[in-house]
Amino acid sequence: MNKKIVVANIGMKFGMSHVEGAMSYGAEIGAICDCNEENLRFAGERYGIPEDKWVTDYRDLLDNDEIDVVTVAIPDQQHKKVACDFLRAGKHVLCEKPLALTREDVEEIIKVSDESGSKFMVGQICRFTPSFEKAKEIVESGTIGEIYFIESEYAHDYMKLCDDWRADPKRHGVIGGGCHAVDLIRWIAGDPIEVFAYGTHTLLPMVEYDDATIAIMKFNDNLAGKVFVSTGCKRDYTMRTVIYGTKGTLICDNTSPTMTLFTTDEEGVTLPAQTIEIEVNNHNAAKEFEVFADAIINGKDILTDAREGAKTVEVCRSIVEASVSGKIVKPNYNF
Ligand SMILES: NC(=O)c1ccc[n+]([C@@H]2O[C@H](COP(=O)([O-])OP(=O)(O)OC[C@H]3O[C@@H](n4cnc5c(N)ncnc54)[C@H](O)[C@@H]3O)[C@@H](O)[C@H]2O)c1
Repeated sequence: MNKKIVVANIGMKFGMSHVEGAMSYGAEIGAICDCNEENLRFAGERYGIPEDKWVTDYRDLLDNDEIDVVTVAIPDQQHKKVACDFLRAGKHVLCEKPLALTREDVEEIIKVSDESGSKFMVGQICRFTPSFEKAKEIVESGTIGEIYFIESEYAHDYMKLCDDWRADPKRHGVIGGGCHAVDLIRWIAGDPIEVFAYGTHTLLPMVEYDDATIAIMKFNDNLAGKVFVSTGCKRDYTMRTVIYGTKGTLICDNTSPTMTLFTTDEEGVTLPAQTIEIEVNNHNAAKEFEVFADAIINGKDILTDAREGAKTVEVCRSIVEASVSGKIVKPNYNF
């Protein structure tokens, strides 16, 4: 592709971060879309996008040959319909997480994505968070040895954020927000083969699902993990993550300017903690878009493609099922 990438951004709340990501890459904004005119106007004026590029119905963009790439940031329940419509129209699609809320929907997105010949990316943005990129690099360097335990949490106060489409029981907090922590540990440690979980419901009476869930998981005989999700918590947003290895331990977060690294000497004795300074950027939309554009232009594979997004949703759904049934659940990765 020699010409400038032309992007249409659908959904103008969190989706404004995709406008910023595309702009920082140097792409052209071919259209912005929101069914709410107020939100559309706010975004259009904020980014200086001419009014003739403001659209309230995304279907008006399906036949627009100028547009190469579409970003989708609308309620999770609509991801399948809108992402598949654009894939069928020949557009490359960057769709927000979680990929979808049901097995049927993720399977359909995979099918349409496979058939389309277009690039498809799920916005698992934690994979572009500087502290987590650094954590992945340290683990792969062997500095902390073999991982035997990994834990991550997603604690985010949704008190004022869950009386809309987020109240849908299918949009359980573990799937909607907790998918970040699940995706992160899958990226670093691989796919868990079994999960078990307990949930509590004390802080968000307006939703029908648990607002706190603790899940434990087995990856293999030598590796276990834990994910804690609280969407009613009384604290600042955090995704505190600890990776325990046979030669060291790493403590990091997406909201902290430092990471802590413990290593060992030749006899296995723990050395004093090292502090690593790191940029705080928990929504690195610029890097996300850059990776997506690079895959489109240079024909590269996308790590967080539809199947990868589906596997993260599958683990989240298994956690919810385990917490409701009181039984160990084995995620089914057969997509
Ligand atoms: N990556 C992250 O960290 C992160 C953070 C927040 C939200 N999200 C995801 O982004 C998506 C949007 O979340 P949000 O917080 O912006 O939700 P929101 O409800 O605050 O905003 C959604 C926007 O989309 C518009 N919209 C809804 N249906 C539409 C349609 N069919 N066509 C055009 N516009 C439509 C609404 O009018 C609204 O302006 C969700 O999938 C959510 O899970 C991701």
